[in-house]
Amino acid sequence: MKNYLITGGCGFIGTNFIRHVLTIRPDWRIVNLDALTYAGNPSNLENLPSDLAKRYHFVRGDIRDGSILEKILSEEKFDGVIHFAAESHVDRSILSPETFLETNVMGTFRLLEASLKGWHALGKQDSFRFLHISTDEVYGSLGPDGYFTEQTPYDPSSPYSAAKASSDHLGRAYFRTYGLPVLITNCSNNYGPYQFPEKLIPLMILNILEKKQLPVYGDGKNIRDWLFVIDHCEALIKVIEEGVPGETYNIGGGAERENIEIVHLLCDLMDSRLGRLKKESSSRLIKYVTDRPGHDRRYAIDATKIKKELGWSPKYSFEKALESTVDWYLHNMGWVDSVRSGEYRRWIEVNYQDRS
Ligand code: NAD
Ligand code: TYD
Repeated sequence: MKNYLITGGCGFIGTNFIRHVLTIRPDWRIVNLDALTYAGNPSNLENLPSDLAKRYHFVRGDIRDGSILEKILSEEKFDGVIHFAAESHVDRSILSPETFLETNVMGTFRLLEASLKGWHALGKQDSFRFLHISTDEVYGSLGPDGYFTEQTPYDPSSPYSAAKASSDHLGRAYFRTYGLPVLITNCSNNYGPYQFPEKLIPLMILNILEKKQLPVYGDGKNIRDWLFVIDHCEALIKVIEEGVPGETYNIGGGAERENIEIVHLLCDLMDSRLGRLKKESSSRLIKYVTDRPGHDRRYAIDATKIKKELGWSPKYSFEKALESTVDWYLHNMGWVDSVRSGEYRRWIEVNYQDRS
């Protein structure tokens, strides 16, 4: 059996990763350490089929707490650490940056320290891996041409991306200085089931459903390179199984879309599912609002390295996977209600009150 410690597994990508990898790798066991912030929902992983559930163990804990990390990493022998835990929402990082530094920078530092100790205790096993999951946002903003490669200099714009950039640097430093087998991935925007409805796609799906305003920042022409979450998970499995320690891999879907295009697409998809007529099209709910400060214009990934060296490429088409995402939300309104706590409603009020 392979035994991996996952951090932040109750969030969007972590949940999809754990469900997917336990299904396709029957020899994997997972310990999921998650602090259960507003973005973490343990019920995402509560109804696993029994053959998956017996290989899954949840521990509530914070990556800022070195003692819990050392305890876990000394009690169990892990083949690796897969590090998803982070504060992940750019708008929240603009309004309250401090937790982003605490979790993304200090939390990653504490996890690297504890992993290094655990790795030493295991006799510096060659096969041990520390996979640090990061974002393309560390590279900053592109103009209309060009792509982010692994050589693109870091140039983060938001407290979120600056904190992720710092954590990437720490990961690289732990490889170069201490030899810890760290691998780093920088991925573009994900979409799919279980994404917290503060991010563009789920927020728009639910606002369309509830006939609320669809707040589009600035001129709506900012571009993101969208990747279905399961394609991201497949890439991460490739990197942990076949990637070279010390290396960085960019992961992207090659599906660049302007935000406004996505919002129109979602309006059309939802209207056809809800039987809304053309004259009451949801696109009338679109409202251009004050732009996000420091809003990056365009992200686009050059994924040549992971394609060539590890044989990964995305399998899902954007339009089809977006449709299946819409259907997932429509069929899982119980999940949506459970994550939209009082805290969520307060956040929506604060973030959108000054944007009109
Ligand atoms: P998310 O916000 O949905 O989930 C984050 C998870 O981390 C939650 O379960 C939360 O409870 C947990 N967490 C937060 N602080 C913690 C702490 N101090 N200790 C332990 N657990 C803590 O995030 P996501 O969208 O699933 O992103 C996962 C990772 O992937 C992040 O590192 C993010 O930077 C990166 N990433 C995300 C995207 C994207 O489009 N969502 C794209 C590229 C990279
Ligand atoms: P988001 O999902 O927050 O991801 P990120 O900022 O990490 O790329 O936003 C995606 C894009 O959508 C980004 O350009 C900001 C924009 N956006 C809106 O126009 N309106 C919204 O209400 C939100 C949440 C995002």
